[in-house]
Amino acid sequence: MSKYSRAQMILHWAISVLVLVQFAFHEAIVDAFEATLKGNFASTHPMVSAHLGVGGVIGILTALRLWIRMEAGTPEKSGNHPQIFDRLANTVHYSFYAILLLLPITGGFAWYQASEAAANAHTILRAVLLILVLVHIAAAVLHLLVWRGNVLARMWPSRN
Ligand code: HEM
Ligand code: HEM
Repeated sequence: MSKYSRAQMILHWAISVLVLVQFAFHEAIVDAFEATLKGNFASTHPMVSAHLGVGGVIGILTALRLWIRMEAGTPEKSGNHPQIFDRLANTVHYSFYAILLLLPITGGFAWYQASEAAANAHTILRAVLLILVLVHIAAAVLHLLVWRGNVLARMWPSRN
């Protein structure tokens, strides 16, 4: 079976975990940003720095991943699913790259320029990201149950 390269797999799962962390621990940054807008910024909460740092790392790893994809490409498509799903998957995958690059940019503008417009864009982007992740996971399950292909193995490090 054709698989993604080891570097692509490691980046895929590392970024997934970091995105989960951003969603799980966002209260501190939301509170700190609200305080900043009210003009009484004082937060040195470590979770605020963590959100900025982890977000920046996600952006850098995503850029690296996109570059590797451009250089190495993707493994040959497999399975007996209708072709339209390949196009849908491509759209979702490219949207992931775009969103994961735009989130740090909008977040940076929101934080360093105290921009409410950028914060709103950040909130919309993270909502779209959440929906696409759910679609992405549903597609993996659909592959397994309906088309009987183990698409997960293409992204899972193993010896063969
Ligand atoms: C891919 C990386 C990132 C993800 C997944 C992410 C995710 C989130 C989430 C889930 C929230 C809560 C939003 C809400 O409840 O409406 C949030 C808020 C925020 N994030 Fe990020 N973030 C990322 C990167 C960054 C970066 C790099 C910065 C700054 C340099 C940043 C700055 C902010 C700010 C200022 C808020 C508060 C905005 C508000 O309350 O409206 N984020 N982020
Ligand atoms: C934040 C969470 C996630 C993001 C942002 C994400 C993003 C992506 C992207 C961009 C690709 C395409 C790689 C490329 O062709 O360059 C991909 C592929 C893949 N992802 Fe995820 N993913 C996430 C979570 C998950 C989870 C939880 C699963 C497990 C169900 C999963 C399973 C897969 C599989 C199996 C592929 C390979 C698809 C194929 O071979 O066509 N992903 N993911």
